[in-house]
Amino acid sequence: MIQGHGGNIYRLAEELRCDPAEIRDMSSNVNPLGPPPGLREYLRENVHLIQALPEADACSAVQSFCRKHGLSPRNVLAGNGSTQFIYFLPLALRTKQALIVGPTYADYEDACAMHGALCDFITADRENEFRPDLQKISRQSAGADTVFICNPNNPTGSLIPGEELLALCRRHPDTRFIIDESYLPFVPEGEEHSLLHSGLSNVLVLHSMSKIFRVPGLRIGFLIGPEKLIAKMRHYSLPWSLSNPALHTVIWLMNHGEITDAFIGRSREYLSVERKRFCTFMSHASHMRLFPGCTSFILAELKGGHNSGQICAALAAEKILIRNCANFRGLSDRFIRISLKTEESNRMLLEKLSAFA
Ligand SMILES: Cc1ncc(COP(=O)(O)O)c(C=O)c1O
Repeated sequence: MIQGHGGNIYRLAEELRCDPAEIRDMSSNVNPLGPPPGLREYLRENVHLIQALPEADACSAVQSFCRKHGLSPRNVLAGNGSTQFIYFLPLALRTKQALIVGPTYADYEDACAMHGALCDFITADRENEFRPDLQKISRQSAGADTVFICNPNNPTGSLIPGEELLALCRRHPDTRFIIDESYLPFVPEGEEHSLLHSGLSNVLVLHSMSKIFRVPGLRIGFLIGPEKLIAKMRHYSLPWSLSNPALHTVIWLMNHGEITDAFIGRSREYLSVERKRFCTFMSHASHMRLFPGCTSFILAELKGGHNSGQICAALAAEKILIRNCANFRGLSDRFIRISLKTEESNRMLLEKLSAFA
């Protein structure tokens, strides 16, 4: 880990000498409604799972994931969160020149740096609501062997429509596209934009269960791609990447399709309502401009006298954690990211943010 991540409830709790559970974490993008009903009880009743080694290749979890998503196990690997794949892909793909479409999640750059791959960056403009410029991406993709695209993007929340993304990948068959769909399950009709079934030989999709099912502590992610590439990637997989509780959680989630589908639907509706309410409340604020996006978080530009460090510090003193975006390449200390949580937390944060006018 080179650049590090955002909000850390443990560090703040240490600073404030309080229990991490007392921190209102509005910096982490996990589903405010999660985990899905029944999962906690299932895990509680199956604590004995920790007493046995899991399958080395998590094949039962891969099979149930594939059954649910209409995929073949030959196209899928399971890992210790999508992070495991992000960090081995530049090595496994022998990436020499990567293109990173930003401003975005820093781990793509960190992973490339770890394996000595060079990076070029395209940064979407704030004036353009952070919408990625596909023509520009296409031009620069020609000079890269690996392109990282987060769709929808963290932290801007912008979404490239699936058809346009597919056309981009088709146009550059000799370039590998890594499409990170960690936040796509939050998007209404998100499936329409997924490249899970692209069938293209140059597309690898990252799928995370951490965010939508609010199980970041379990570490569950998948890599989906063409059979030939996945066969190569298999050589880089570590044994027992999914712990036994994680593996059985996947099976439980995939076998309870009715519960999980209804849960995802409810989460999308809830977030749409909260996002709208949040943005409407702030629509007349002159000190803050919001980029609503389509997921569980909102990027905000600070237009008043306070910078992101000052706002984050003031909120932290009140045990509220939001994401300071100053260390995102392409952003600055004029940006913060807010993860939507309970209605009560969202209202409370709106009031606090209003006070910075
Ligand atoms: C865009 C993006 N991709 C991947 C990850 C890693 O998720 P995980 O390893 O929990 O699947 C994160 C975590 O914040 C993220 O924001």
